[in-house]
Amino acid sequence: MGLNLLLVEGEGGMEWEKVRAYFRKKGFAVYQTASVKEAYRVLRNEPIHIVLADFRLSGINGISFLAKIKKTVRPQVEVIFLSGRVPLSAAIEAMKAGAYDFHEFPLNHRLLMAVVEKAREKQSLFVEKVELERKVRERFNFGNIVGRSKPMQHVIEIVGSVAPKNVNILLAGETGTGKEMIANAIHYNSPRSSKPFIKVNCAAFNEGVLESELFGHEKGSFTGAISKRLGRFELANGGTIFLDEIGDVPPQTQIKLLRVLQEKEFERVGGNETIKVDVRVIAATNQDLKKLIDSGKFREDLYYRLNVVRLELPPLRERKEDIALLVSYFINKLNEEKDYRIKGITKETMQLLLAYRWPGNVRELENALESAMALAEKDVIEARYLPAFLSLAQPQNGDHYHIPIDLPLREIEREVIKHTLDRAGGNKSLASKLLGIGLRTLQRKAKEFQ
Ligand SMILES: Nc1ncnc2c1ncn2[C@@H]1O[C@H](COP(=O)(O)OP(=O)(O)OP(=O)(O)O)[C@@H](O)[C@H]1O
Ligand SMILES: [Mg+2]
Repeated sequence: MGLNLLLVEGEGGMEWEKVRAYFRKKGFAVYQTASVKEAYRVLRNEPIHIVLADFRLSGINGISFLAKIKKTVRPQVEVIFLSGRVPLSAAIEAMKAGAYDFHEFPLNHRLLMAVVEKAREKQSLFVEKVELERKVRERFNFGNIVGRSKPMQHVIEIVGSVAPKNVNILLAGETGTGKEMIANAIHYNSPRSSKPFIKVNCAAFNEGVLESELFGHEKGSFTGAISKRLGRFELANGGTIFLDEIGDVPPQTQIKLLRVLQEKEFERVGGNETIKVDVRVIAATNQDLKKLIDSGKFREDLYYRLNVVRLELPPLRERKEDIALLVSYFINKLNEEKDYRIKGITKETMQLLLAYRWPGNVRELENALESAMALAEKDVIEARYLPAFLSLAQPQNGDHYHIPIDLPLREIEREVIKHTLDRAGGNKSLASKLLGIGLRTLQRKAKEFQ
């Protein structure tokens, strides 16, 4: 485990020199300064894990130094004070303020080493949240779309380039993959952003009601139409309409939709005045529209009108690299919304999150974290707070496969390793645990089998 130390030296003289030499000899990366300002700078710019600081620094007392690091500079870093004699009360105060430990000169180097390693161990339980946050802000963000995986970077790129253009877009993807979020991002990054963004869930209404939702109706056009009503297309004029679950639009309504898309005009239900609108259409579906076309349930001409640009949102299980980033994003978001103070998750929790298949995709991940954060008693999410179904003991779809009795053992081994690696999201150390073999053995076999 690589370990980067920062020494913030005080008046200990020889003692500090000896500590420096000792840790360098042990192969640690040792940064060194005697200035508090310089210490903050190093902490902001270098991947420091542990700080060894003199309790009596010039210009600032140890407690204030510690408080500043924990509050604003690098909350994750652990601080160990090394000092000449100080009153016991000061040492106690330092520990209360969050110091990891307090050692007096002359130092016992072996003991100090053990303490440093322990502090690092505790720390590595946390996903390095600060680091992740920085990445979210800097590179991977378009609107609120989080994702660093190749497929998501591709999505973000396309969203960026089509948003300002006045083209219709079809969003395809499983439930919870972010279709509505992307539709929002497109609208709010387009020249129409100050105009309405109107959403219609086409699966939520029966045929008659859907038509009057979309196109409005005149007074008395049907029983119950006691007054004239504007439809969503009229309300969206100048802006964007988001037609969610487009695959559920019944055939009659599809004809009317096609006309709005082609001619930009329609009549209200029960009316004969032709109404002109300028509306950008973003449609979404988690069904296979091509199949619906083949079975005669969806009009091909409408499909081509909607599908000027098609964006396919990949399921979460195909981009596990995004999980850590999303976890960090949701922890921050929920901390803010609910006034929680969760700092991170344990390694074990992360491994469970990586191994799970996420049929409900990002929404399911967000929900799992939300419930775990509500249950967590400390500032770390431990695995036991995750929903029970996430635990590895639970068999999931795809965990069973058929093995013909005449299959050579070598082939069986290869299949099992391949599936387990998939299940573990490519995490070899987790996969080796699941298989009950050593990491090295797994690495060797994986290489052998390609
Ligand atoms: N890449 C992402 N970054 C940040 N948040 C995301 C991302 N993808 C999805 N989410 C969040 O996950 C939740 C579900 O997303 P959304 O409602 O857009 O999914 P959907 O594809 O419309 O699902 P459904 O088909 O069930 O309607 C939302 O809270 C959304 O903000
Ligand atoms: Mg949706």
